Amino acid sequence: MSHFRPVAPEHASRLLNHGPTILITSRSADGTQRNVMAAAWSTPVEFTPARVAIVVDKATLSRTMIEESGVFGICVPTAAFVDTAYAVGSVSGRDGDKFDRFQIASQRCPESGVPLIESGCSAWLACRLLPEPNAQTRYDTCFGEVVAAAADERVFRDGRWMFTAENRELHAIHHLGGGRFVLTGDSIQAAPL
Ligand SMILES: Cc1cc2nc3c(=O)[nH]c(=O)nc-3n(C[C@H](O)[C@H](O)[C@H](O)COP(=O)(O)O)c2cc1C
Repeated sequence: MSHFRPVAPEHASRLLNHGPTILITSRSADGTQRNVMAAAWSTPVEFTPARVAIVVDKATLSRTMIEESGVFGICVPTAAFVDTAYAVGSVSGRDGDKFDRFQIASQRCPESGVPLIESGCSAWLACRLLPEPNAQTRYDTCFGEVVAAAADERVFRDGRWMFTAENRELHAIHHLGGGRFVLTGDSIQAAPL
């Protein structure tokens, strides 16, 4: 049974607020090919409508697919999925379907047709590309508007991440370089001064 539940659009930015390494999913314009890559560089840019920015190198197959289809997905891999997250960031989909090669289960987003990964991930956001030719060409930065989002209720509830020592395998991963990652760690609550 899936632990994923829809996330309200006004809470979608929180899914990326802590700066996790993400998986960017994409599909060809005709929907016959799919792809997934790792990305360390992403950020929310607007609460409502929920908008995000991702940096996708122009040499990648993902970039070609995103620009041709006008859609992409963002999935947040968990600590348990670190090997797969690193693997999909180390080879190109031009050399074969990474979902098959690394046995990644996915489902098609009903709104956009992009593959979405729940097994091994704690959240996803389905986005439509907001074309910004200058940002894309000069800075490899693609902006997107969130059309649907969902998260694993075991670790994201009432619009908040709930990272605890008990759900460590569901924590997000943050890339230090060379395949070394740190997990999202202890959380502390700021008190009013
Ligand atoms: C942890 C990690 C983070 C990465 N971050 C980015 C990133 O932010 N932007 C980017 O363009 N490539 C990034 N990469 C590299 C791409 O994932 C890599 O080039 C990938 O093979 C592209 O696949 P594709 O050609 O199938 O699209 C990262 C790789 C790893 C392992």
